[in-house]
Amino acid sequence: MGGAVAVEESEANHKSAAVESKEKHGSAAKEKQNKNKRKRKEVAPFGNYRNYYGYRNGHDLDGDPRLKVMKKEWFEGKACLDIGCNNGLITIHIARKFLCHSILGIDIDSNRIEDAHWNLRKVMKMESVKRNSINSSELKNEEKSNGSKQIADSSPDQEATIIFEDPTCKSEDLSSVVSFQHENFVQSRHMGSGHYDTILCLSVTKWVHLNWGDEGLINLFSKVWRLLQPGGVFILEPQPWRSYEQNRLVSETTSRNYSQIMFPPHYFQEILLDKIGFRTVEDLTAALSGAKTGFNRPVLAFYK
Ligand SMILES: C[S@@+](CC[C@H](N)C(=O)[O-])C[C@H]1O[C@@H](n2cnc3c(N)ncnc32)[C@H](O)[C@@H]1O
Repeated sequence: MGGAVAVEESEANHKSAAVESKEKHGSAAKEKQNKNKRKRKEVAPFGNYRNYYGYRNGHDLDGDPRLKVMKKEWFEGKACLDIGCNNGLITIHIARKFLCHSILGIDIDSNRIEDAHWNLRKVMKMESVKRNSINSSELKNEEKSNGSKQIADSSPDQEATIIFEDPTCKSEDLSSVVSFQHENFVQSRHMGSGHYDTILCLSVTKWVHLNWGDEGLINLFSKVWRLLQPGGVFILEPQPWRSYEQNRLVSETTSRNYSQIMFPPHYFQEILLDKIGFRTVEDLTAALSGAKTGFNRPVLAFYK
């Protein structure tokens, strides 16, 4: 027995130089490949992905099932806050679709806020192109009926992924309705209370929970409650506990917090109603079922 082991060891220790060098080469190439993979893999410790909507909705924002379960009365003429707005496209979409009085999108990542400002400018430009093309086709029709030469149609911007409910709205209106701000909602200080009628927090709680633990989460919920008007609504899309597992290792902090979490998402409803003080909850999840895009997460509306 001992001898056999000795032979195996001796064979292993005396590999030909050619084999050794080949292996060395092979493992160096593998290491390089892994390094490139690591480089390519985006690090997003707060869920601050650069192309979030690309892989969530396949760029079809209007098809985002969450927008279909939202009620106009929560937004129309209302002051709204969108916590964790990422690149602002959902914020802008909500403003246009539901005619908010105002909506502020905040995000912990200044790059995402830059993207949001850029998207806002792009949407305003697209709206103005669209308006001009409507005006010119009206003119064209007029001229046609007058028997004059037709004017070529201006083609709408390729990236017009947002369908505007009211194409007659002025671009200036949008910039006075939608704004964006770089802010960590968990740690920033908001003075006063009752600033908002509606607060959105979509797919953000996991990141707050992993980065600031139970304390950060309770802080977020309490702050939301304080910032809402009486009668206001808090629209929450929490990520399920099983999805925490995938991201728990993004940093040392997240992995430490993950192991110490005492209030996983199935407690959120109880916390918000019994501890924070929301009056009632409306579960909109059933209306999402069967959606082809999105993540099929629960969507809940809590009323203050
Ligand atoms: C997964 S994305 C969700 C984007 C958007 N709410 C949606 O559902 O379409 C989470 C966003 O929350 C932001 N975020 C995470 N922690 C935050 C915090 N403490 N304060 C503000 N934004 C935060 C991230 O930067 C990221 O853009």
